[in-house]
Amino acid sequence: MNIEKKLWEAAFKAVGELYGDVPKELVQVQKTRKEFTGDYTLVVFPLLKVSGQSPDQTAQQIGDFLVAGNADIDSYNVIKGFLNISLKPAFWADRFAEIGADFGVLPPTGRTVMVEYSSPNTNKPLHLGHVRNNLLGYSVAEILKACGNTVLKANLVNDRGIHICKSMLAWQLFGGGETPQSSGMKGDHLVGKYYVRYNAELKNDPTLETRAQEMLRKWEAGDKEVYKLWETMNGWVYDGFDTTYKRLGVDFDRMYYESQTYLAGKTLVEEGLKKGVFYRRDDGSVWVDLTADGLDEKLLLRGDGTSVYMTQDLGTALERFTKEHLDELVYVVGNEQNYHFQVLKLVLKKLGYDWSDAIYHLSYGMVELPEGKMKSREGTVVDADDLIEGMVDEAREMSVQLGKSEGEDVSEMVGLGALKYFILKVDPRKTMLFDPRESIDFNGNTGPFIQYTHARIRSVLRKASSDYSAGAVDVYLPEELELVKMLCDYPAVVAQAGREFSPAVVAAYVYDLAKTYNGFYHDHSILKEPDEATRNFRLRLSQRVAFVIKRGMALLGIAVPERM
Ligand code: ARG
Repeated sequence: MNIEKKLWEAAFKAVGELYGDVPKELVQVQKTRKEFTGDYTLVVFPLLKVSGQSPDQTAQQIGDFLVAGNADIDSYNVIKGFLNISLKPAFWADRFAEIGADFGVLPPTGRTVMVEYSSPNTNKPLHLGHVRNNLLGYSVAEILKACGNTVLKANLVNDRGIHICKSMLAWQLFGGGETPQSSGMKGDHLVGKYYVRYNAELKNDPTLETRAQEMLRKWEAGDKEVYKLWETMNGWVYDGFDTTYKRLGVDFDRMYYESQTYLAGKTLVEEGLKKGVFYRRDDGSVWVDLTADGLDEKLLLRGDGTSVYMTQDLGTALERFTKEHLDELVYVVGNEQNYHFQVLKLVLKKLGYDWSDAIYHLSYGMVELPEGKMKSREGTVVDADDLIEGMVDEAREMSVQLGKSEGEDVSEMVGLGALKYFILKVDPRKTMLFDPRESIDFNGNTGPFIQYTHARIRSVLRKASSDYSAGAVDVYLPEELELVKMLCDYPAVVAQAGREFSPAVVAAYVYDLAKTYNGFYHDHSILKEPDEATRNFRLRLSQRVAFVIKRGMALLGIAVPERM
């Protein structure tokens, strides 16, 4: 049940009967802020025009009306023009009893949303930035699913172009036939090594640049030998990516390859030329002039006919909207590409594709490591595999130190949980610093803290000897009622996270729930509580808290252990 909506309806009705019909936007209900007493708050100020009375008088009138007419409403208080409404404990008890298998899974919207994320280039392995991207993309997709949408997770692989030709050229010149098998290197790392090599050799031999360009032209012309090398090296990279994706726990419903969609982009360029939206320069290159829209002139096709990054994105977007009947397309891409997506949307709009309005760029900030921590093998960016391995090592050491012996599965879960939670708890738009030590601290706002809370509850439940699934209590402790209300809030949290494309909303909620539960656990006994009804209720409460923690963490892509 959407409790906030129910209250809004009651308030809207009350206002209508007291003062006559008002526009919907004048009735604003929100959750009561923590420092006040109440569950939901009606903002009275917008209603003064129609009530013709002071804020306090208006609030009182509406409050009295609501209490008299609604069996679920217990009481109200008025603070500075805010009407704080409390619902009856019995109302909350009913909601609590309703928490079942589909709790937090919102009704179907009938909408299909594609979330594109990851989208690597095939010239080097995944790095820390990709980790944030993958975690965000996966989580946002799971959240949108829970919000009732049909979600397609998509990955666009930039598998062609000058960057991959550089790795190929360096391998050809300096590789001596090295393969992942012969070297024992993960395929993406091997190809990355030759990309680094290219850039190093370029300093001695500037002709490499034109040779890479030549290779690209040959590739576009379908040269057999170049194509074969390209396929082989990309194959190595995909094997490597797959390993990393599996370990991160991310997956995709659709794979797009630039090598397949850039041609559709070229067709769109032709279309734009015909429609007069694009123009051709003397050197044969094709451009779009966006200066009237406050942007600049943008290259869409090079003079030699080879396509650019934008060409491919135009083609891919068209293909997606036509084939998949999307209602929305979300691109999870770093904020250094804000301009690119502004242009993409605008160009599609100019070509007459109204669905360009349904494109949303979920732009996220950079993530950095504190100085000196976990240097990558190439010494420049932090490698994703190294980072994950480091986190799992850290978790393993920690469990040895604490004298725990839950084994490798739990270390893997905790190491990844630490990484994922620490990154996802930050608003996607913000630049962030990833601190491995801090992320794994059992006492902080961390994944392991929440995982530990879950394991602790599960351990309590394992020890319960009675059937605690039913029974009633008449009086609740305030701490119990607080937990019940927090649990009931979960569906609204999921909805908010979906509206804002923000896993951070879920993270904050789950942490709050775990922390509040721990406070309760610390102050009150559960298994040792002598009164049977109370004991059983507390066990039920604990069980539901563990359930919602597990659900919420699953939206973040984080597994929680039964023991820890
Ligand atoms: N491969 C690109 C890069 O690494 C990101 C692609 C993002 N997605 C897109 N449809 N343009 O910078």
